[in-house]
Amino acid sequence: MSLKLSIITCSDTRSIEEDSAGARLKELIEDAGHEVLDHIIIKDDKDSIKSNIKAQIDAGADIVLTCGGTGLSPRDVTPDVTLEVCDREVPGFGEAMRAYSLQITGRAMLSRATAGQIGNSLVINFPGSRKAAQENWEAVADQFEHAIEMAHGGGHNHSK
Ligand code: MTE
Repeated sequence: MSLKLSIITCSDTRSIEEDSAGARLKELIEDAGHEVLDHIIIKDDKDSIKSNIKAQIDAGADIVLTCGGTGLSPRDVTPDVTLEVCDREVPGFGEAMRAYSLQITGRAMLSRATAGQIGNSLVINFPGSRKAAQENWEAVADQFEHAIEMAHGGGHNHSK
């Protein structure tokens, strides 16, 4: 099952050319056989993050991956906006990311990354470094297809 994914990198300082974390996510999406619907970079601004998440869902994204803004700096607001814009939280993605990542670095506890559902689609937060984006992809990406099947009302498959 091929999914449509959009990447929204949230950063006050980075340009699209400097967004190596977003670029790595793009490669990982394509290597997994999914489609990258869009890859954009926006400021750490609540209204902008919210409207861009909605726009990607309206454009047909099954999953919006946000990248960055999950930490503790006052400008890090991505998880907060995710909870505001989503119909309901899907906390297991953040839990799985931290469980996996804490085996690599204690700094993983500094990411507040979460996920949420909007209709049949998901919004999933990733931290903003290339290394962290790659590691967190490894933690959760194998559940994407089943998650979207379930979001469309599909049945349970307990095999993985
Ligand atoms: N998770 C993994 N797997 N690997 C990492 O290197 N870095 C952490 C954390 N999660 C890291 C990680 C660090 S240093 C921070 S500050 C937080 O993610 C938040 O990152 P963000 O503000 O770029 O979203």
